[in-house]
Amino acid sequence: MFKKLALGSILALSLAPLSAQAAGGTGHVEDFAFSFEGPFGTYDRNQLQRGLQVFTEVCSACHGLKFVPIRTLADESGLGLPEDQVRAYAANFDVYDPELDDTRPGKPTDHFPANTGAGAPDLSLMAKARAGFHGPYGSGINQLVKGMGGPEYIASILTGYTGETKEEAGVTLYENTAFPGGWIGMAPPVSDGLVEYADGHSNDAHHIAQDVAAFLMWSAEPKMMERKQAGLLGVLFLGIFTVLLYLTNKKLWAPHKGKKHA
Ligand code: HEC
Repeated sequence: MFKKLALGSILALSLAPLSAQAAGGTGHVEDFAFSFEGPFGTYDRNQLQRGLQVFTEVCSACHGLKFVPIRTLADESGLGLPEDQVRAYAANFDVYDPELDDTRPGKPTDHFPANTGAGAPDLSLMAKARAGFHGPYGSGINQLVKGMGGPEYIASILTGYTGETKEEAGVTLYENTAFPGGWIGMAPPVSDGLVEYADGHSNDAHHIAQDVAAFLMWSAEPKMMERKQAGLLGVLFLGIFTVLLYLTNKKLWAPHKGKKHA
């Protein structure tokens, strides 16, 4: 009885700060449905290509993507762009080359440029650096069901503006229901019809946000498909191995358990 009480209060004590943090520190993150969720989920190539377009036309004005080599845009498990398109895309950038001591057009082996001008964080790994789901009571158990929620967090930030602004120390802050603390220094970057998609996909703000969030998930984890395949193969192998071991064990012990066959 005593022991049980002690355990209970220890649990309550250790969860209390977590739940306080969850209540005060985090914003509301919508559970967007992404094609790459779950053990069998895969990237939607068209969506990634649309996301690259959004990043290029909108986000890259302020954000860098410095850990992503441009050549990976050709990866089969990702955007799968043809080599000539990747070369043409890379050539849009002016890259400083220390050997030439000058700038030259970008090559596929270069990385996306860094961009710190606007004081915006690099987005290469943002989808894995942020967790969208924390509950219940800050325990993180939700993440087992819904995933970490990094891309959901990004899409929710982009669609979470209320339209309210305030000035603080000469900086404009924008009210955002998904951003921890509720006020973000980034002006609303997406709006309905902001980009024109070649594949005719719907381009309201919600879809644009979801597409660029999917692209940023890919940039943070380009090998997700390979990882899942290796995992499935591992589980399959372990399954077969379990059956074989079970049968072996049965056969080995059969003579000692008084069974007729041996
Ligand atoms: C006009 C410049 C500008 C543009 C364009 C812009 N951002 Fe930002 N972004 C910022 C700044 C500045 C911050 C830092 C805000 C802060 O910490 O309050 C930021 C922060 C962020 C964050 C980080 C939130 C966090 O948890 O730290 C994400 C995610 C983000 N931007 C995504 C995007 C995406 C995706 C796009 C393109 C659709 C985009 N941004 C376009 C300026 C911009």
